[in-house]
Amino acid sequence: MYRVLYRKYRPRYFADVIGQPQVTDTLKNELRNDRIAHAYLFTGSRGTGKTTCSKILAKAVNCLSPENGDPCGRCEICRGIDDGSVLDVVEIDAASNNGVDDIRTLREEAAFTPANAKYRVYIIDEVHMLSIGAFNALLKTLEEPPEHVVFILATTEVHKLPATILSRCQRFDFHRISPKDIADRLKYVCQCENTEIDDNAALLLAGIADGAMRDALSLLDQCMGKGDRITETIVRQTAGLADKSHLIAITDAIIKKDSAAAVEIVDQLYSQSKEMLRLCDELTAHFRELMLIKSVKKPRDIIVMSDEDYSKANDQALALPMREVVAVIDSLQRAAEKMTRGANRRIEMEMTLVHLCTSVSPGSIDPAIEGRVAALERAVSALKRTPASVNTQTSNAPAPPVMVNKPSADKMEELRKNAVPFKEWPEVIEEIRKTSKTIAAGFDGSRAFLSGKYLLIDSQREICYELLRKSSQRDSVRNAVKMITGNDYKLGRYSYPDEVKSDDALTGLITDLKAAGVSVDEKR
Ligand SMILES: Nc1ncnc2c1ncn2[C@@H]1O[C@H](COP(=O)(O)OP(=O)(O)OP(=O)(O)O)[C@@H](O)[C@H]1O
Ligand SMILES: [Mg+2]
Ligand SMILES: [Zn+2]
Repeated sequence: MYRVLYRKYRPRYFADVIGQPQVTDTLKNELRNDRIAHAYLFTGSRGTGKTTCSKILAKAVNCLSPENGDPCGRCEICRGIDDGSVLDVVEIDAASNNGVDDIRTLREEAAFTPANAKYRVYIIDEVHMLSIGAFNALLKTLEEPPEHVVFILATTEVHKLPATILSRCQRFDFHRISPKDIADRLKYVCQCENTEIDDNAALLLAGIADGAMRDALSLLDQCMGKGDRITETIVRQTAGLADKSHLIAITDAIIKKDSAAAVEIVDQLYSQSKEMLRLCDELTAHFRELMLIKSVKKPRDIIVMSDEDYSKANDQALALPMREVVAVIDSLQRAAEKMTRGANRRIEMEMTLVHLCTSVSPGSIDPAIEGRVAALERAVSALKRTPASVNTQTSNAPAPPVMVNKPSADKMEELRKNAVPFKEWPEVIEEIRKTSKTIAAGFDGSRAFLSGKYLLIDSQREICYELLRKSSQRDSVRNAVKMITGNDYKLGRYSYPDEVKSDDALTGLITDLKAAGVSVDEKR
């Protein structure tokens, strides 16, 4: 018969209980000195050893030959408690026996002296589930407990207990177990089960379990079904974890301020049915880890990651100033909040990333980019000063083309010459907004011109051209244009400032122009 691991490896001695010395050392010490309380309260998060320690304690107070505070496990009482033949240890699940009558019965029984053992022990698990009436009935017994009775109350939700109960118990708080302790225990269990487990797999498992040994063992159980050797990959697959590479890639995009790349990764994940809120949470967790790497003395000990991921995360942490890390966490948390309140999750995720990629805080900006931005600004103001040369129909006349970087000489020149302002452009942007706020936001403040088969976009913000790098985004712009004008247009750039001529943000547009037979001088 197969027994699930967490039952099979339930510690039978305090010495085997890991990560709770504040409980086990104290209890052993009291037991050695024969100082036994009448009521114990075990609280703390799930799967950390409360029920386990209740059972050990029930045996320890009754064992015929206790060893250093631990039950011997071999005497007739220990064995009798294990196999249920000693009836003096009673386990009550308060979730299903929570009424006044249940506790009254218990009180009547408790008055009798134990049959075999020294103490009658009542383990009341999930004690927070008792009704008010049951609590009151229990309180009466706790106030004047018979000499031979020990109560052990266990709960994850101590705040639900009345203060009157709390004040009558000796309280023990069980802590979340550290990843390292969990990993060591997992390795021990694997050894007993003749299964190999990689160090980083054990650590990853421990991290997922988030302090709960039961969860760690349940997951280990599932992993064991998949092969003789447990690797990080098996753990990831079993736990349904996406690997971290996408988080690392998005973070790289944020560091490089490459919004197109960030949006592209999100689109890919979206098409793989990745839940956007989950992605947002994972990314927040990743930045929290970067924050820890930056602020904690020995971050490697507390961060659960493979060595490979860790070294990348470490580089990223170095590349970002603390206040940016904090700002990103802040933005992501706000995005998650909006998502839970019903905002379109994909749009929210995209907008947040575009925002994070475009908002460059002064001081943290790469001097090379700074130079480029300054040059761009000069080019733009030159563009504004040049007198109009196109046939404009509105008083809000567009600036004429400036040959900062003329990609293909004559043809491009001709296109610009024939360009007329495209007055419906704001409507197109609104049309785009219906399907993607992110893309639409990229075009805010831009203008457009029509010239033959071309629609030439003019924007002071590079983000606008970066968005067009991706064909699906170009398509959504083209579709919107078609909706409004009824015609298909090829998209082009109205002007090419020198400073960005080699930027691959332009590659897509250059390709478009080439496809249309415009010869593009890429060397320039
Ligand atoms: N501190 C620990 N040391 C070793 N194993 C542990 C520890 N805590 C939990 N376990 C493992 O997890 C299983 C479940 O633990 P236990 O039932 O004691 O948790 P609990 O704290 O009572 O959780 P819950 O609040 O969910 O009832 C045990 O059978 C054991 O295998
Ligand atoms: Mg329990
Ligand atoms: Zn014993």
